[in-house]
Amino acid sequence: IELVHHVNEIEDDQLVRNLPQEKGVDGGRLCNYNNFWCRVKFLRPILNSQKYFKAHDTDIIVPTLPKSGTTWLKALTFSIVNRTMYSINQSPLLTTNPHDLVPQLEFKIYAKNENPNLDENIYPTSPRIYSTHVPYHLLSNSIHESKCRMIYICRNPFDYFISYRFFLLGNEFENEGKQSLSLEESFDMFCRGIYPFGPFWDHVLGYWNAHLENPDKVLFLKYEDLKEDVVLNVKKIADFIGFGFSEDEEKEGVIEEIVKLCSFENMKQLEVNKKGIFNGNVVEVKNCSFFRKGEVGDWANYLTPEMIERFDKIIEVKLQGSGLKF
Ligand code: A3P
Repeated sequence: IELVHHVNEIEDDQLVRNLPQEKGVDGGRLCNYNNFWCRVKFLRPILNSQKYFKAHDTDIIVPTLPKSGTTWLKALTFSIVNRTMYSINQSPLLTTNPHDLVPQLEFKIYAKNENPNLDENIYPTSPRIYSTHVPYHLLSNSIHESKCRMIYICRNPFDYFISYRFFLLGNEFENEGKQSLSLEESFDMFCRGIYPFGPFWDHVLGYWNAHLENPDKVLFLKYEDLKEDVVLNVKKIADFIGFGFSEDEEKEGVIEEIVKLCSFENMKQLEVNKKGIFNGNVVEVKNCSFFRKGEVGDWANYLTPEMIERFDKIIEVKLQGSGLKF
C-alpha cells in the first residue's frame, strides 16, 4: 500500500509531468531529469538524497551503474574496513546480503523518509559506507565538498547490458506488471541511452573525468580488472580509503581471506543470498538475482555482430578523447 501511495505521489508531481518520458525496458516509466534517465518512482528519493544527504569526511561512497559489480565491491569494501571488528568466520556477510550492510542512498535511506536523521541510525560500520546509482553531476553537493572518497566500478557495456536484462527479467519492478521488451528492442533503447541511470556513456564518463581531475577523491575500477587480479585491486581499494594492509596482514593471508569470503562462488551459495529478499523500499529484489554467472564475456552468447558494431560506433564517438576504453 505504501508503495502504491508513493507512486501516486510521484505521478501527481508537477516536476515529473514536465519531464520527457519514455517507456523503459521492463514497461516501467522513465523520465529524463537533468540529462539522465530515471525510473519515475526513483526520482523523488534521488532528489531527497541530493538535497539532504550530508557526507562526513570519513564516508566512503560506492557509486555504480547497477550490474557493474556493486554487490562485489560492497562486500570487499565492507570487509576491508571492518576486518579488525569481525573475524572472517564471524563476518556479517555470511548472514546478511551486502546491500543490507552497505545501504543505497536513494533506495534504502531516502526512499521512505525525505530527510532521515542518519545519526540516529545505528550504523554497523565506521566509517560509513553508502552506495548510489546517481550520476556524478547529480550527487549531493556535500559529497563534493566533504573529504569523503568514492570508489566507482564500471563494466564492459555488453556484459552490463546482458546482466541488467536478466536482472530485470528475474524481478518485478513495476506495479503495472512485467512487459519486458525483446532483446532487440532493449538493445535499441540501450543504444539510444534510454536506460535506467543512463546513458551508459554519460554515467561512466562523469566518474571517469572526476577521477582524472581528482584521483585521491575518486577511484575508478573496472569489473574485468577485479576478475583478472582481485588481490591487487583489494590492496588498491584499501590504500585508497586509508585502510592499507600491514606487512604482517599480508603475510598472514588476510587479503586472500577477504577475497575468498567475497568471491562469487562463496557469496552465491550462502543461505541469505539463495533465499533472502532485499527490501529497497521502492523495490523488492530477490537476493539470488544479484548472483547470476559472475563472468566476463557472457554477452557473446546473446548479442549479434550487428548489435556490437552499432554500439561500438556509438561508444567510440562518446568516449573519444576521454582516454577511457572498454
Ligand atoms: P552477471 O549477471 O553477469 O552474472 P551488481 O552487483 O552491480 O548488481 O552486478 C551484478 C553482477 O555482478 C552480476 O553479473 C553478478 O553475478 C556479479 N557478481 C555478484 N557478486 C559477485 C562476486 N562476488 N564476484 C564477481 N561477480 C559478482
